[in-house]
Amino acid sequence: MIIAIDGPAASGKGTLARRIAAHFGFGYLDTGLLYRAVARDVAAAGGDLSDEQAAAAMARTLDPASLDDEALRGAKAGEAASMVARHPQVRQALLEYQRAFASRPPGAVLDGRDIGTVVCPDAAVKLFVTAAVEVRARRRFTELGAKDPGVRFEDVLEELRQRDARDMARADAPMRQADDAILLDTTDLDIEAAFETAVGLIKRKISQ
Ligand code: CDP
Repeated sequence: MIIAIDGPAASGKGTLARRIAAHFGFGYLDTGLLYRAVARDVAAAGGDLSDEQAAAAMARTLDPASLDDEALRGAKAGEAASMVARHPQVRQALLEYQRAFASRPPGAVLDGRDIGTVVCPDAAVKLFVTAAVEVRARRRFTELGAKDPGVRFEDVLEELRQRDARDMARADAPMRQADDAILLDTTDLDIEAAFETAVGLIKRKISQ
């Protein structure tokens, strides 16, 4: 069984997806990490993130074992990821790995931007997790500020706005709620409440 979780940056979908996977005993793939790692590898080779060929070459040879890298977690890596995520050849190269992961028994939870629309259009359950941009920025600011006191809220907000706009505007697999996805707005929900709500929605969907 596949559970697809999509949504904008800092919507809480990652934490939610990880907890849902643990709850159902499923595998979990944070697909954003794939794009973050491709951007890391392009930069490490001295390449340009706007160079589709260079980025696609890195995507084709990406080592899944290299995803467990603390350097991929930061805001800069997320920004760089959305640059390489625009390239159709990069997306194509990452498709097979994601689909193979999704089909592993007994089930998998994948989170990203295009899981319900492109990667796993037949997923049993699709959630689109979102929250007001100011609330998402506040969460990301708290997270980043804990590590770096120099972070400014206005910059975090602006970065989120730009990244969402880029992810929605791209021609190939833009961020979009699938027609059969359930919307989960976490603006007024903490992680515990969001988790309880999500599990309820998933159970209801599966029993239909
Ligand atoms: O954690 P956060 O939501 O900030 O970012 P992420 O999920 O790690 O994704 C980083 C970037 O990768 C996004 O802004 C997208 O541009 C890209 N991405 C994508 O295009 N498709 C996916 N399935 C996952 C991420």
